[in-house]
Amino acid sequence: MQTIHTKYELINALKPLTNIAFVPTMGNLHEGHLTLIQEAFKKTEYVVVSIFINPLQFNSTEDFKRYPRTLEEDLSILKKIGVPFVFAPSESEMLDSLQTFAMHLPQIAYDLCGKFRPGHFEGVAIMVYKLFNLVQPEMAFFGKKDFQQLFLIKALVKQLDLPINIIGIDTVRHDDGLARSSRNSLLNVEYRKKAPQLFQTLNSMKEKAIKKSLSFDEIEAFATQSLNASGWIVDYLSIRSSQSLASPVHDENQLVILGAATLGSVRLIDNIEFCIHD
Ligand code: PAJ
Repeated sequence: MQTIHTKYELINALKPLTNIAFVPTMGNLHEGHLTLIQEAFKKTEYVVVSIFINPLQFNSTEDFKRYPRTLEEDLSILKKIGVPFVFAPSESEMLDSLQTFAMHLPQIAYDLCGKFRPGHFEGVAIMVYKLFNLVQPEMAFFGKKDFQQLFLIKALVKQLDLPINIIGIDTVRHDDGLARSSRNSLLNVEYRKKAPQLFQTLNSMKEKAIKKSLSFDEIEAFATQSLNASGWIVDYLSIRSSQSLASPVHDENQLVILGAATLGSVRLIDNIEFCIHD
């Protein structure tokens, strides 16, 4: 495994290769990340994994500071599973010049998570764009767990004509339903037990939406109230079109319910996709 720390070395190492699959991460690797990497290996032997905790996408310094950093463990996992190239730049390497270019994102980037984390998706978009330029992959793998992120990355490659195939991978969960996340390790024992409630709530919203006994607004309001009552602080629980992320139009069939809520001081996100009828 080649562990590369500079942009110059990365460009040189990848120059002779074609058919590169790229898996960008912020490290603290778990089964979710590893599934993305396994899927990448199904397409090519040239898998590039990046590990970079991107300061541009954190809207709180506190959150950035306590984000789990486990580079040594991550590298040993990646070595064991035979990843040929890992790009793990320092902050000064990746952000060596002032990022004064700004990206204006589609309106949906300022809704859902974007509404509660101002600047987050601009930070993600700029970093992913920089990484795409350095790696120049044929394809890149992203998790559906970050549904809005995946949606925006697809829009980015489409609108900027980047010749990269973006592949979305289903959310990997713990046995109790909690979506795997680097942030789960920040939960204390009591909150870890409670955490599957978010996925349970999304599932019960889905059942109600299919039954059509309540309006989507009522379903969202009821679910928000009940999670708040059980000790969460809900940012949003929202039923959207899975194609556009807009509010569903009348009789729209392909839906996604997205949720973000905080337990203690740990903000978790999750979503489920479904169809109203087959
Ligand atoms: P990070 O949170 O480390 O996630 C890296 C990739 O793993 C993302 O595409 C994310 O959606 C995916 N992932 C995380 N948990 C998952 C799960 N339980 N199941 C399936 N996939 C999962 O997302 C980021 O980093 C950053 O925003 C990044 C894209 C690297 C840009 O900085």
